[in-house]
Amino acid sequence: MNTLLSSPDRPDAPAEVAVRFEDVSKTYAARRGQSTVAALADIDLSVRAGSILGVIGRSGAGKSTLIRLVNGLELPTAGRVLVGGTDVANLPEEELRQLRRSIGMIFQHFNLLSSRTVHDNVALPLEIAGASRAEIRARVDPLIDLVGLADKRDRYPAELSGGQKQRVGIARALATRPSVLLSDEATSALDPETTRSILDLLTTINQELELTILLITHEMAVIRGIARDVAVIEGGRIVEQGDVFDLFTRPQHPTTRAFLAAESGRALPPFVAEHLSATPAPGSQQVLRIIFRGAHATDPVLSQITQQFGVAVNILGGAVDAIAGRPFGTLIVGVPEDPPLLEHISAFLAARDLDLEVLGHFALPAASPAQALGEVSHVA
Ligand SMILES: Nc1ncnc2c1ncn2[C@@H]1O[C@H](COP(=O)(O)OP(=O)(O)O)[C@@H](O)[C@H]1O
Ligand SMILES: [Mg+2]
Repeated sequence: MNTLLSSPDRPDAPAEVAVRFEDVSKTYAARRGQSTVAALADIDLSVRAGSILGVIGRSGAGKSTLIRLVNGLELPTAGRVLVGGTDVANLPEEELRQLRRSIGMIFQHFNLLSSRTVHDNVALPLEIAGASRAEIRARVDPLIDLVGLADKRDRYPAELSGGQKQRVGIARALATRPSVLLSDEATSALDPETTRSILDLLTTINQELELTILLITHEMAVIRGIARDVAVIEGGRIVEQGDVFDLFTRPQHPTTRAFLAAESGRALPPFVAEHLSATPAPGSQQVLRIIFRGAHATDPVLSQITQQFGVAVNILGGAVDAIAGRPFGTLIVGVPEDPPLLEHISAFLAARDLDLEVLGHFALPAASPAQALGEVSHVA
């Protein structure tokens, strides 16, 4: 059950757990004119020390609530949240303060103080913690260097780009030397390229500072860009969790599949999607998605199918990619309408540990076959 607990480096050793949700539920009390909200239910989740766990879910799924439970900004209605083995609830005030210093947090809208310079924003948590001037001097400038903002030290937030603001947010979150970093949609306000650079920075910090990162997002690209472990949350429940490669290549839950639908290679070419139907039609082909993973990721499967079964395979789309550093490909093909043939192909692929999804039937529109062929020929 708890796949997140196993350590890839030492398969037999139980990995240390940095954050653990034990059967956690959270119900918000009724507000004026509204009923109670069951934001989270029966959450069991562990974040291995030093790992990056991504949690993906739609808006309202309960992601922010989940993350706010870790630093005690919210308390569970049932169950326990443990950070480094300590139950976050019922901590005496001073211990809760200390715990919060060991947990950094970054936000979608950065939450910087506009009246303070970069340096002074990063110094703020240290000032609050009562650090000396000397301690602040020794700590802040190296952090500003670490996030690549040495030349912006004395600038104000209004003078920075979104990516630079998030770098300040990251430096500030690291000021009190936390062991855990919480990221609530930290790249959601950024363009894809800036997102990439922030995810790279977080990866570096994870490795160099051995920082545990719990990151929540509504974007699959963020999960694939940084996490090794992933949980999918829907309606306050975790519907699927495990290794990122497995989740991308063998999604089990409809919510996960929906998140993956827009991923490269998984998405049907628009022309195919437009003419896909659930039932065969005159002249239609059966449309299949073949998923290449693991040892057979680079097998010449199409030519083998063509030779073995004597059929033409029509390539409609596809991509080869790497997920969490492992090769993975998808190919969308059309084959003749022939149920026994489909069974043979299915058995052939299964014997090679390749996955097959039957997507439907594709017929070229009768009105303009030449134009239609032109549209798909670039991938054929
Ligand atoms: N302080 C609150 N009081 C009442 N309901 C809340 C509060 N915070 C969040 N909720 C509700 O809890 C559910 C989960 O919210 P949230 O954790 O913010 O989800 P997400 O971050 O995934 O969008 C939503 O239905 C939201 O409206
Ligand atoms: Mg949220």
